Amino acid sequence: MKVMVIQGPNLNMLGIREQQIYGPMKLEDIHRQMKAFADANGMEIEFFQSNYEGEIIDKIQECLGDADGIILNAGAYTHTSIAIRDAIAAVQLPTIEVHLSNIYRREKFRQKSMIAPVCAGVITGFGPFSYHLALVSMHQIFQEMQAIKAQQQAQNPQS
Ligand code: DQA
Repeated sequence: MKVMVIQGPNLNMLGIREQQIYGPMKLEDIHRQMKAFADANGMEIEFFQSNYEGEIIDKIQECLGDADGIILNAGAYTHTSIAIRDAIAAVQLPTIEVHLSNIYRREKFRQKSMIAPVCAGVITGFGPFSYHLALVSMHQIFQEMQAIKAQQQAQNPQS
């Protein structure tokens, strides 16, 4: 099964931007660790980063028929984008919202997520490890999805 990892605005600046908040690790290094976990656990994984809201929406839509789940750090769009929320609701794929920082102990404007209500869950505040936790969670979701599918096929072998 395949997971699409979508990174929003300014996440390409990890390792440079506000290191006291986001730490020294670069996005490529986070992705390398995620790929190693995915390979070891038989998951397909793809990565996408964009600073543009419309491109993030296009990528979420493209997941339909191409991916089984989404891990999304929408960056600042988390707090503003009804359009990204609508895209997640439209594709109906299990989506995990991720943040490096704990958005609930930061500025008031970051304490609200537009996206969380349409996500399977939210992981926030564990630095780069948030992505690992999200991937472990997605692995669990995939196993549950496969178990349900196998059960349905056993009940209805013709379908
Ligand atoms: C972030 C938190 C957002 O508030 C911020 O705009 C980001 C990164 C995080 O991963 O902690 O760009 O999503």
